Amino acid sequence: MLERGRARRSTEVSVTPELKAGYVPGLAGVVAARTRLSHVGGEAGRLIIAGFPLEEIAYEATFEEVVFLLRTDRLPGRAEFAEWRSRLAAQRALPAATLPALRSAATLGLDPMAALAMAATSLGPRGAGDEALETDAAQADALIAGFPPIVAAFWRLRAGREPISPRPDLGHAANYLYMLSGEIPDPAQARALEVYLNTVVDHGLNASTFAARVIASTGADLAAAVSGAIGALKGPAHGGAPGPVLAMLQEIGTPERARRVLQSRLERGERLMGFGHRVYRVRDPRAEVLATAAADLLQAGPDTALLDLAREVEKTAVELLAEHKPGRRIETNVEFYTALLLQGLGIEAELFSPTFAISRVAGWVAHVMEQREEGRLFRPRSEYVGAQGRRWVPLAER
Ligand code: ACO
Repeated sequence: MLERGRARRSTEVSVTPELKAGYVPGLAGVVAARTRLSHVGGEAGRLIIAGFPLEEIAYEATFEEVVFLLRTDRLPGRAEFAEWRSRLAAQRALPAATLPALRSAATLGLDPMAALAMAATSLGPRGAGDEALETDAAQADALIAGFPPIVAAFWRLRAGREPISPRPDLGHAANYLYMLSGEIPDPAQARALEVYLNTVVDHGLNASTFAARVIASTGADLAAAVSGAIGALKGPAHGGAPGPVLAMLQEIGTPERARRVLQSRLERGERLMGFGHRVYRVRDPRAEVLATAAADLLQAGPDTALLDLAREVEKTAVELLAEHKPGRRIETNVEFYTALLLQGLGIEAELFSPTFAISRVAGWVAHVMEQREEGRLFRPRSEYVGAQGRRWVPLAER
């Protein structure tokens, strides 16, 4: 695979002013991949997924259609879509070895992201001659279909409950909610989750996607690339933020306390979770979509207190951040309303990041396939800033 890609690789290098200067901390502004999958317009606050505006993808598509689009760069016809949807659904049953591994992970008390990373590798090829999972396409299907059952089964096992078998008649989002709770979700809830999954499916060369592409560039299998990406997604600067967003909202408690609590967080040098982005200089367009979806969901329920609180916190946080970092333009990011939407669906905070991964895995696998075509090993250089001219002193003389 690596050999095939090598023959096709482009030798063009995009030389940005930062790159000319040498060391670029965090690779900010460096173009390190070409992709047809998504475009992040940071200044305008626009996100394009495979040519479509985010807003159309989020509200019009089913998640299975989005996955098909990322994989093939076109929309499926009706018969083709029915076949694709049932092919994915048929792969929800986990391999025999995965459930015992999840039981052990639950006994060890692993967190859900660690359990997901471990179980994801079990969806890769199991030694030479595992023809069923020999191709990237077969592994990609197994990973996308297998993530919701892994997360739901682990969650139930850790709570001392037995996993529930998947329902192939339900869509990807509805089946996940069903496998968590054992109850078929109402269509509005399943749709709200689907809007979320559509919204976060891909986002340029973010940290986890970059991690997946780096791993894939070594020729490692797709499951290895995906389990590395899960590790990158876990951190609070990336996909680990919505849990802390909810904790922050809970600490604030009521809209009147927003200014005081946020101000003292900033004075202590803490970051306000759900705000700021490396690329966007305006409100993250995904926050816009999820704010609407969360409002629709929560306004249909008995209690809108959390929604009212979130709106006040958002307004106050953006004002305070503008005073705190004048000229930096720190705005609301995707994770702020993710917390609200997923909480409104009854999904617990520890499952926020794994639920993000259930969507983003479709982006990761599509990027890995692109990376195979590119074929070039990621191997940047480092600048040595350590000691010079030392002489070794034997242990006995120290
Ligand atoms: N609260 C307070 N200050 C902030 C925030 C924030 N949310 N975001 C940035 N800043 C400040 C930083 O402290 C920094 O100040 P300094 O220059 O005095 O050190 C300055 O703004 C620039 O911050 P950077 O870390 O350089 O910004 P970067 O672009 O690297 O980071 C990041 C973006 C990590 C998302 C940051 O804004 C952050 O930590 N936000 C809070 C966590 C969060 O919401 N994470 C989810 C991100 S969305 C996603 O990945 C799916």
